[in-house]
Amino acid sequence: MDSIIVKGNGPLSGEVPIAGAKNTCLKLMCAALLSDEPLTLTNVPRLSDVATLGSLLESLGCEVARLADGRAMMISSADVTNLTAHYDIVRKLRASFNVLGPLVGRFGEAVVSLPGGCAIGARKVDLHLTALEALGATIDLREGYVHATAKNGLKGAEISFPFVSVGATENALCAAVLAKGTTVLRNAAREPDTVALAHCLQGMGADIEGAGTDTIVIRGVDRLHATTHRVIADRIELGTYMIAPAIAGGSVELIGGSRAIVAALADKLEEAGVEIVETDRGLSVSHKTGRVRAVDVTTAPFPGFPTDLQAQMMALMCTADGVATLEETIFENRFMHAPELIRMGAKIDVHGGTAKVTGVVQLRGAPVMATDLRASVSLILAGLAAEGETRVNRVYHLDRGYERVEEKLSGLGAQIERVADHG
Ligand code: UD1
Repeated sequence: MDSIIVKGNGPLSGEVPIAGAKNTCLKLMCAALLSDEPLTLTNVPRLSDVATLGSLLESLGCEVARLADGRAMMISSADVTNLTAHYDIVRKLRASFNVLGPLVGRFGEAVVSLPGGCAIGARKVDLHLTALEALGATIDLREGYVHATAKNGLKGAEISFPFVSVGATENALCAAVLAKGTTVLRNAAREPDTVALAHCLQGMGADIEGAGTDTIVIRGVDRLHATTHRVIADRIELGTYMIAPAIAGGSVELIGGSRAIVAALADKLEEAGVEIVETDRGLSVSHKTGRVRAVDVTTAPFPGFPTDLQAQMMALMCTADGVATLEETIFENRFMHAPELIRMGAKIDVHGGTAKVTGVVQLRGAPVMATDLRASVSLILAGLAAEGETRVNRVYHLDRGYERVEEKLSGLGAQIERVADHG
């Protein structure tokens, strides 16, 4: 497994192209199962999670082809022969549980492995299953698999989610587009990824209203057709590279970014003293060398502060002037980066879902362990601001969600390299 070595060496400058959004792309790929005509996606990120989901779709009988430049992908689900998504793949990638809605919606049947927990929390799927039951599917849990059947097809229903779930909203949305009658999803996710999924489904011929609000209305149609859809910019990658100049100093232009998809972060960074300007090509983020001000952050569903940027924000707060309180409300165990940051000299007290971070003048490089995707990148960010060398071990998580992170950061002047671990 590779490691990343980063040495803090002063301000960053230059530009970074923001890739297509991982979480959007994965759900669009699942949606391709809804039609016997091909779905072509452009601006597809080159990430291992995308490749893993591609393998799962192939195991179901789909044809998955990367087109000439590797940034486009054509998925044909004309010959789906297998309706079982196996544990071997689903356990690697929770988003693959989102083949369930499309498969039941189109074929009236699916067997999908339960994804299991993961490092950041229990991550249950009860909301996904109750939504499908409301749409008329029979759900049976056997030997770690969800067996879902709807012999006579799904039927529209009113579904009120008790709390916001991105994955459950998206699974229910996909299941409902081919159901008979009207489905209303209340307390639905408003994430840009969910809105993009609705737009793609509309391009395929689905009848959907209200995406981006907390109530989505879906009128079932008989079939969906081919379309081409461009994956939106990755707001979590964007947010991560916005935090880089805030922590290391400097000025960076993020090509393809827009403030609307990261407004909660942008507001917090400005409160901390970082300058953000919208440009013709994206967002320009600058911070003269020196400490930012401490700001408090509470994670929440969109448009709130994203949980997927909490670790990166914690890294920034480690060197801020003052005391910051970070409250995690989405996942119950998402502070695993804290002990690693403490190894670098950070002062962090975690009590339940709240972390109190007292900024220090200087972090110091140390060997640290990447525990999950966003934690990995937070340690790299901390390394940019640390004196000496930080070695982030076990970076395989990073490649699931960040394209060429070491190239993008070294392009900004950071001293960063990937080394292969032996043994
Ligand atoms: C998605 C994102 C992930 C992000 C998260 C929250 C993808 C591939 N992943 O994950 O990066 O961190 O949204 O913005 O899009 N829950 C239940 N029962 C359910 C479903 C969820 O209890 O049936 C809980 C989860 O354990 C969690 C909370 O609800 O505590 C929110 O989870 P959810 O919004 O569903 O996250 P994901 O879709 O898994």
